[in-house]
Amino acid sequence: MKRIGILTSGGDAPGMNAAIRSVVRTALCGGMSVVGIERGYQGILDKAFREMHMRSVSDIVQRGGTILRTARCMDFHKSECQDEAIANMREEGIEGLIVIGGDGSFRGAEALSKKGFPTVGIPGTIDNDLAYTDYTIGFHTACNTCLEAIDRIRDTSSSHDRITIVEVMGRHCGDIALYTGIAGGAELIIIPEVPMEFSEIKKSLIEASQKGKTSGMVVLAEGVCGAEELMRFLQRETNLSVRATVLGHQQRGGSPSMRDRLLGTQFGYHAVGLLKKDIGNRVVGISKEKIVDYDIMEALAMPRKFRKDLYKMAGVVSQ
Ligand code: ADP
Ligand code: F6P
Repeated sequence: MKRIGILTSGGDAPGMNAAIRSVVRTALCGGMSVVGIERGYQGILDKAFREMHMRSVSDIVQRGGTILRTARCMDFHKSECQDEAIANMREEGIEGLIVIGGDGSFRGAEALSKKGFPTVGIPGTIDNDLAYTDYTIGFHTACNTCLEAIDRIRDTSSSHDRITIVEVMGRHCGDIALYTGIAGGAELIIIPEVPMEFSEIKKSLIEASQKGKTSGMVVLAEGVCGAEELMRFLQRETNLSVRATVLGHQQRGGSPSMRDRLLGTQFGYHAVGLLKKDIGNRVVGISKEKIVDYDIMEALAMPRKFRKDLYKMAGVVSQ
């Protein structure tokens, strides 16, 4: 393979730029040329192609977001649009494609692979919701961003003897809430993987207050419910002073952590190595600190491993 394309798709994540830089420089060093595709799959349909050089990726390793921009392209679900995309890439001389994104983006990559166009996926999403990899690019930075906010909120919460509910992102996955809840010293972590009735939440917070806790931090995953809804319930049903904060899109921005820069660089390097050997229909990931790759469909079919051990530990140390 002599010429490859690269795009970012779905929600952006800090560390995507480190992965783009790694792909471009690894490919160029290996004698391949690289086409940057703007705004995800939409960019292939719009022929938004730009030639990438060594200096096109200078000064980006420390930047959040994605220099290639990203988009959600509904047309890409249609078989005829996928055919058009393959024709556009072939016309540009592109022989293989690297897709940085989450599970939705991987389904698009799988569709192209099935039609005979080699693709390799790099997991980039703050949600950490892909079962086949221990971590996705962006998760670590998003957790650190949440932690900074949680620490600040804790100051005011304890000064006012309050319970604060902090809602974090993650779609249907509770990992951001679980990891930041533990690291932020939360009294309660509420995640989709462990269903909890509002009445149980109330009971647990009242018990904490009876045990002498004068304030409390509740970290709530967005996949469970909205923080406002839970706040209104607790205000109605208890005498506790309760507030709610939704951290929102700040979790997706900011300079990537060392961990995400390293991960993005390792994934990019490995992905180019696969395409160089004409291997497509793969996704790269990390398992027990080793970079691995799997067939896309097999990877997407793997059942998610929920860290029950961490959740159990959180219950003990929050007493
Ligand atoms: P993420 O990749 O972060 O999970 P989305 O689920 O929004 O984000 O998917 C990103 C894009 O991937 C979609 O806008 C669409 O262009 C493409 N995509 C998602 N699912 C499919 C699918 N089943 N077939 C083809 N393309 C898809
Ligand atoms: O998948 C990343 C993510 O940030 C989720 O955590 C969140 O639910 C969603 O994207 C928000 O999407 P949007 O940027 O379209 O508001």
